[in-house]
Amino acid sequence: MNEFSAFKELLKEKCDIVQVISSYVDLKKKGSEYVGLCPFHNEKTPSFTVYANADSPHYHCFGCNASGDVISFIENTEHLDFIDAVKFLADRCGLEVPATNYNEKNYANRKSIIELNVEAAKFYHKMLFSPEGKSCLDYLRKRGLDLKTIKKFGLGYAPDSWDSLIKYMKNKNVYPSQLLVADLVKKSNKNGKTHYYDSFRNRLIIPIINVRKQVIAFGSRALSPNDKAKYINTADTPSYKKSNELFALNLSNNKERVLILTEGYFDVMTMHQFGFPYAVACCGTALTKEQVSLMSRYCKELYLCYDNDSAGKKATMRAIELCKNSDLKVRVILLDGGKDPDEAIRKMGKEYFNKLISTAPDAITFLQDEIAKNYNLKLSDDKNEYIEKVINEVYPGLSDIELEIYSSKLAEKTGINKSVILNSARRALKKQYNKKRYNFNNTKQNLNFNSQNSRLKKDSPIKHGKFFLLASMIKAPELFEDGEIDLEENLFENDELFDIFNGIFEMIKKGEKPELLYFSENLDEKQKQILIKLINSDIKPDVNDVIAAVKYLKDELKIQNIENKDFSKLSDEDYLNLFENQED
Ligand code: CTP
Ligand code: MN
Repeated sequence: MNEFSAFKELLKEKCDIVQVISSYVDLKKKGSEYVGLCPFHNEKTPSFTVYANADSPHYHCFGCNASGDVISFIENTEHLDFIDAVKFLADRCGLEVPATNYNEKNYANRKSIIELNVEAAKFYHKMLFSPEGKSCLDYLRKRGLDLKTIKKFGLGYAPDSWDSLIKYMKNKNVYPSQLLVADLVKKSNKNGKTHYYDSFRNRLIIPIINVRKQVIAFGSRALSPNDKAKYINTADTPSYKKSNELFALNLSNNKERVLILTEGYFDVMTMHQFGFPYAVACCGTALTKEQVSLMSRYCKELYLCYDNDSAGKKATMRAIELCKNSDLKVRVILLDGGKDPDEAIRKMGKEYFNKLISTAPDAITFLQDEIAKNYNLKLSDDKNEYIEKVINEVYPGLSDIELEIYSSKLAEKTGINKSVILNSARRALKKQYNKKRYNFNNTKQNLNFNSQNSRLKKDSPIKHGKFFLLASMIKAPELFEDGEIDLEENLFENDELFDIFNGIFEMIKKGEKPELLYFSENLDEKQKQILIKLINSDIKPDVNDVIAAVKYLKDELKIQNIENKDFSKLSDEDYLNLFENQED
């Protein structure tokens, strides 16, 4: 065993796998193992198991088949390569990694970009405090950032020159072609001659640092009003994908498990300075689902705090939509007193902002109130249209309890009796699923099936519907608990899916979450494969879709039964039932 392998073993011994994984996954002890929700795929019931007492402690996810030791766990959750994961864990337990000749190409590439970025960040930071950087420092002062904040964010200044970074790096034996990979320089070809120049010139530099404290990119702001581009950010590089990262997440770890998402770098920096050290921002992109899932690893409650303008409102609506399928509790900070959080907090102060936080409405209330702004609720027809719009656009997918809560608010707002609103909401939602049922028969795409799954696409609608129903039962058992969705065991009669259906259904009936790990013991290999597919599917269960699917399957079953039946043997009543009105 060489020195490094020996170290690896020592590390695995020192790092308690349960303790490490517990920082990412809520683990519960089950016998001698620990189980929790798998961090590598989306699931509602735990199939991720940690075998802490095995000879070599490891994890395995029955759902997505992810498995490995504590090092590969960190590689996959922190998106690190092997060596960085080893270092990450070594830091955690106070061990020093021995020097290695580990030299995988990608690793070297990524590593060198980060090393170059660190070197560049130091250069820019130094320049901020040089005579050349005075105008930039003055700018920061004018915008109210104090020295402590400037240091906390490692801000810098890129001099007003085509090659100041290039020259500085040359002194360190780094050549422009290397800087190009990090997007720190640009390349142009003039008269057949290659020419390099600094990417950032006469700009405030804002390093973007990931949670591993690696400088992965830069944002930069123009200082001269003549500069056409207000912000220029590092393009994607092998160590940076802007749609996957969040500015200041490295500074925003907090016990309260709260994050505030803002639009801009200055919003974030000002909030941190004013005592809200959990503000983050996207780096020049609209919010992505990757960022939503990143945030949901660090917080439970997300406050959206976009600019106080129509673009900000739109972005807020979009963000709410994106967060729908996450576990985040979303609230919306209603900013006034300034166009963005930066301005508002400066003008109005910390206490004011604290109040905005504590009075921030939840996402549904926000949408309900926002839509009201387009109507004059003193007019009867406006009032009617408003209520209908809320019912049709905001309420779909709400649980009964939520419906109860939000319709109370709607009643208060409009002066319409709550029970009238509730009845009308239930009717409308039912109509919606009937409409969907129609669509379901005709265009499968209208349901939330995984459209990338070509195998599924080729399936018959019945198989499709069954698959959708089972995946929904696994992912959202709560939808089936109150009996509103009327499941019948014969839906899966004579079907290879019967055992799976039955297993899940039994658990739901007992009020248990489908613990796949346990009931799957009774399945054969093929059924297990199907179960894994179900767990891994991208299906996002929506109550109306599920109701539509169940109704569809029941109808199909009826038709099948009819086809197999001798009509003359039916009673009059049964015969007439065949033609009952499906639309109720
Ligand atoms: N942004 C960008 N590129 C631009 C404009 C904006 O990447 N050309 C991103 C930046 O991350 C910026 C955020 O969008 O922080 C918000 O943009 P904007 O509201 O225009 O800037 P402000 O936050 O108002 O910046 P400042 O206060 O410096 O004027
Ligand atoms: Mn702004």
